[in-house]
Amino acid sequence: MAAYSLLVDTYRDICGGAAAFSAACVRALPMTAWRADVASHSGTDPGADSGPHVPGYAVPIPWRTGAYRISTDSAPVDFMAHYLLGRWHIQEEAALLAVHLLAPSPGDHVLDMCAAPGNKTAELALAVGPEGAVIAADRSRARLGVVQTTMNRLGLTNVTRLVADGGDFPAPDNTFDLVLVDAPCSAEGTCRRHPDILHDAERLGRANHSTLRGAQVRLLREAARLVRPGGRIAYATCTFSPEENEGVVSDVLGARGGRPVGLRVALPRDIAGLVLRPGLPSWQGERFHADVRHARRLWPHDNDTGGFFVCILEKEDAGSQGTGGRAGRGSAGGSIRAGSALDANALPWSILGLDSADLARWRMVRGRLVSPGLAWRATLDPAAAHTTGVSSGLRLFNPKTSDSRLTTEAARVVGPFAQNGTVEIAPDQLVDYLLGREIEPRGVSPAAPHIPVVIVRCQGAALGLGRMQADGLLESLFPRTWGGVDVQRSLNRNDITPV
Ligand SMILES: C[S@@+](CC[C@H](N)C(=O)[O-])C[C@H]1O[C@@H](n2cnc3c(N)ncnc32)[C@H](O)[C@@H]1O
Repeated sequence: MAAYSLLVDTYRDICGGAAAFSAACVRALPMTAWRADVASHSGTDPGADSGPHVPGYAVPIPWRTGAYRISTDSAPVDFMAHYLLGRWHIQEEAALLAVHLLAPSPGDHVLDMCAAPGNKTAELALAVGPEGAVIAADRSRARLGVVQTTMNRLGLTNVTRLVADGGDFPAPDNTFDLVLVDAPCSAEGTCRRHPDILHDAERLGRANHSTLRGAQVRLLREAARLVRPGGRIAYATCTFSPEENEGVVSDVLGARGGRPVGLRVALPRDIAGLVLRPGLPSWQGERFHADVRHARRLWPHDNDTGGFFVCILEKEDAGSQGTGGRAGRGSAGGSIRAGSALDANALPWSILGLDSADLARWRMVRGRLVSPGLAWRATLDPAAAHTTGVSSGLRLFNPKTSDSRLTTEAARVVGPFAQNGTVEIAPDQLVDYLLGREIEPRGVSPAAPHIPVVIVRCQGAALGLGRMQADGLLESLFPRTWGGVDVQRSLNRNDITPV
């Protein structure tokens, strides 16, 4: 426990109550989740939460529209089923602060520079909507795979994944409206979820914080190059370490010399219902840039959350590109729409009976369904478009079957608009469907008897695929592993540990 005592001792004078801080660090973290079926994720639409479908076990988080504490020790089966169906996303409350303060708007083009495993990518994608786009970049190809898993589960068609070093990013200057730098850090603030951290003397040591600081400064400097004049950057970490927080922002603002990057710290918004503390003026003899006081710190004991730090920076206007309006969009190669339009007369749309108006919601890029706003070809360096790590949206056809079958993720996205090739099940059959059991469907669309693999729907929402059998029963084709979890285990044991 020596490292833990050292942690408490180190931050004793800046945490605002060492005893409360110390106790909070070893308390289990409440489970929090947000609704992915709520229209607004930017926190600007307080009415978005008032729908009839919020279950009793979900207690609203006052400061973040659509986010809840799940108030049972183990999540109920109902929650798990709706999680699998992409109606909930589990994310630590403290981590919600970054996108909340960045405040994306519909239509924004956003770079999520350190995106994996993709929690904030998902928040961003829902906030910018189909006319916006999120480039989810990460240095780790393996971790980017988890981003795709989340995109599939939530049905996100406006995200491009890209393996890239955020410190040397393949896009021209001034490309993005917003950049999120959710930096790799010592992660001290996640100690309630990962108690091992409290015993990890090396991770908690000052030498580690100093090393990380250099890498973080490099990322934030590159973000300054990539954001357009008038655009915003959120620099965020989940650590208490002043070197990695105020120190990094201070360095990029030029407090220790170095070339200026044209950023200023934006004044923070007040957030009713959340206790935040200002950025520190100094630490262990180092005086930070005066403006870092506008950064915000979230300590675990103030709101019963994890620890977090966010600073919003704005790129100064160069004078030639307007004042805060969108600039530089598509400047790398003309404002083009990526991919091709979908043809209602071609397969599979003709069988499913989707008309041209429905199909205008998506375009196709290399066999993948993408939102109209996802013009990544226009924003990335052409060389990057050839790297194998680039992929956008959702795969349309399942490559593992020989019958041109849709993927589950594509079926879930296009299914609500299909006129043919669908079957309807009742809400009380939902869990049986997810568990892969045979079901007697409640309704079958006119053409479905002739189409063996159908889209399964429940109350207008598409759940996935099924196969109609000769006896009129429906065989579930819901995947055994979905959203990165074992479906049987999650529904039978309320366990969402990733497989
Ligand atoms: C704190 S995690 C990001 C969490 C993520 N934003 C979320 O909300 O799910 C930091 C990520 O940065 C990535 N990373 C580390 N160095 C990087 C670099 N130079 N460029 C891009 N990504 C990097 C790591 O692989 C890791 O996935």
